[in-house]
Amino acid sequence: MNSNNNNNWIRQAHRWLSIAFTLTVLANFAVRAWGEPPPWVTYSPLLPLFLLLSSGLYLFVLPYAGRR
Ligand code: HEM
Repeated sequence: MNSNNNNNWIRQAHRWLSIAFTLTVLANFAVRAWGEPPPWVTYSPLLPLFLLLSSGLYLFVLPYAGRR
């Protein structure tokens, strides 16, 4: 109960990270119309994906961490 507020910014971060991640993936497809892009474009989805993984696993554990 008490941690309900605290989780909210993580949930919002997860939400918006999903948009950022989606944009990097779409950008990858778009840029590839011009040929192979530089590596930083290719790997740009990895940072938001890693942050999504971290915040997502946290959100997953929340309901179970509560009951004890
Ligand atoms: C990479 C590993 C990921 C894990 C482990 C994960 C896990 C989760 C979990 C546990 C929730 C909360 C579900 C709930 O109890 O309501 C959630 C919500 C959500 N996830 Fe992920 N997720 C991951 C990646 C992604 C990706 C790649 C996207 C989209 C590009 C995404 C988009 C969302 C959205 C939009 C929500 C709803 C957020 C809200 O409450 O408004 N997630 N995710």
